[in-house]
Amino acid sequence: MMNILELRNLCKSYKNGDERLEIIRDMNFSLEAGKRMCITGASGCGKSTLLNIIGSLDTCDSGEIIVDGQDMTKFDSAQLCSYRNHTIGFIFQFHYLLRELTALENVMIPALVAGVARKEAQAKAEELLNSVNMEHRSHYYPSKLSGGERQRIAVARALVNDPVLLLADEPTGNLDEYNSEIVENLLFQIAEERNKSLILVTHDRQIASHGDARVKLEKGGASFLWVRNFLFFMLSELSSAEIQAGCSDISGGLS
Ligand SMILES: Nc1ncnc2c1ncn2[C@@H]1O[C@H](COP(=O)(O)OP(=O)(O)O)[C@@H](O)[C@H]1O
Ligand SMILES: [Mg+2]
Repeated sequence: MMNILELRNLCKSYKNGDERLEIIRDMNFSLEAGKRMCITGASGCGKSTLLNIIGSLDTCDSGEIIVDGQDMTKFDSAQLCSYRNHTIGFIFQFHYLLRELTALENVMIPALVAGVARKEAQAKAEELLNSVNMEHRSHYYPSKLSGGERQRIAVARALVNDPVLLLADEPTGNLDEYNSEIVENLLFQIAEERNKSLILVTHDRQIASHGDARVKLEKGGASFLWVRNFLFFMLSELSSAEIQAGCSDISGGLS
């Protein structure tokens, strides 16, 4: 099976005055095409930093990020624009819908930016609104929608250019339990139906256990991986060295 994503020796630190804050140290992992990975970990351990780097919203210090066969850390700015628009679908904790536009128009925007004809963009957006069960809200403005509805629109928008990799950073962080479940289940279902690879950052252990792979990021520790049907580690009882020896898929840690 082909890997949609490979991280090789990824390092990231932030400069804070004279201090250097090491966030990601020598991280390695891969994700097979069509698989769904869940990332959990305490607040501040670097989950958003990791997703932002993969999604090219932030840069790493060193390392390689191979997405769909190409190292995106080597892309020039034109290639990065195309990468953000076509290759990646990003869903954030906050919906970032444009309030002057209807739900339908919001979903159409990335397609129009990509140069898709208006009619075609609209047809695609309508089909997606249908699949997130929001077709009855397509002419609503974001201010008239509930939090859960806005996130479903954001999911549709992330999919409109048919990205190969969906990145969702705590997309239900602002939602109640009932709506969180709807949105997260929807993400899993859509990723499966459309054969999209998904990386989901979530606090919900129940949801995280539904993925094909699970990574727990820890400050000062290793990254742990759980892959359904392949590998099962009693995570808390293994040292990082044992995990690396037992699983070539993932190594490295966060400081
Ligand atoms: N631009 C920045 N400059 C300095 N430190 C940052 C910056 N962005 C994030 N950090 C720090 O990096 C760490 C990881 O942040 P983040 O990736 O947002 O964590 P998480 O998403 O897991 O809660 C935090 O300690 C945070 O304060
Ligand atoms: Mg975060």
